[in-house]
Amino acid sequence: MEISSIGVVGAGQMGNGIAHVCALAGYDVVMTDISADALSNAVSLIERNIARQVGRGKVTEAEMAGAMARIRTTTTLAEVGQSDLIIEAATERETVKQAIFEDLLPHIKPTTILTSNTSSISITRLASRTDRPEKFMGFHFMNPVPVMQLVELIRGIATDEETFAACKAVVDRLGKTAATAEDFPAFIVNRILMPMINEAVYTLYEGVGNVTSIDMAMKLGTNHPMGPLELADFIGLDTCLAIMNVLHDGLADTKYRPCPLLTKYVEAGWLGRKTQRGFYDYRGDGDPVPTR
Ligand code: CAA
Repeated sequence: MEISSIGVVGAGQMGNGIAHVCALAGYDVVMTDISADALSNAVSLIERNIARQVGRGKVTEAEMAGAMARIRTTTTLAEVGQSDLIIEAATERETVKQAIFEDLLPHIKPTTILTSNTSSISITRLASRTDRPEKFMGFHFMNPVPVMQLVELIRGIATDEETFAACKAVVDRLGKTAATAEDFPAFIVNRILMPMINEAVYTLYEGVGNVTSIDMAMKLGTNHPMGPLELADFIGLDTCLAIMNVLHDGLADTKYRPCPLLTKYVEAGWLGRKTQRGFYDYRGDGDPVPTR
């Protein structure tokens, strides 16, 4: 099945990046969100991010104009129903995602493939609440979407081969690389990344190092582009905690228990960059200041 149009549900950090790369690859994109402000902010951000790529000679002015013209936005969820492929990138809460798929069902074509950009929720369970578990799978982008090479493709227990092949072809056309993961809690990337971040928070909690020394140790000691605490702020501490809880509940192993300090930061509303404060304080004009 050939995909030519893509519906993106959610105009947040992930949704806008997904719309960006799909439009640049030549797909007609319709992006929806309950907030009109979120949609207009997302379009401005996409424009700024593609302009940055033009500035670096990676995209031409004509490609940018074409991509921007291919992105349509709407606050009416039903309007994404006519897309060949729908990528849900809403808040990482199962009840929210389930409600979106339930609301979409009356408006989609019989051939529409449904996917979720979830970073950890069971694809099989989300699929089971729809009328087409065989045409449902996980389509997990990494942040920042325009820069990161990987997409995790996750088959639910019922996903058919045709659906997988159609999604794999989209990843190829985006110029990205697919890693196939089985549908177990947090798949591959977050199964490995989140325990590392959680352990970095334990290292801070137990006073083995401070924010600066932990991040510097991992950047210079293991050549990671960002330290684990800086990366946690970038991802969002609420998202990190939610994924640790999925691992803890889903695998029932105490090695995945979320660090109490991570919980404390989330309770404080210090969620990282998006709230201007997390393991670093981003509110000043200069470099971010460590909070511990
Ligand atoms: N759109 C387009 N281009 C962008 C961009 C965006 N949003 N953000 C950065 N870029 C481009 C820059 O233009 C630059 O391009 P060139 O290589 O052509 O120069 C390049 O990316 C590097 O950007 P910067 O020079 O501004 O910054 P940097 O060198 O510090 O790199 C980074 C920034 C790419 C984010 C790097 O720090 C990095 O790779 N960090 C780790 C990111 C990571 O691990 N992501 C995965 C998170 S886990 C996840 O997403 C899964 C989940 O479910 C939680």
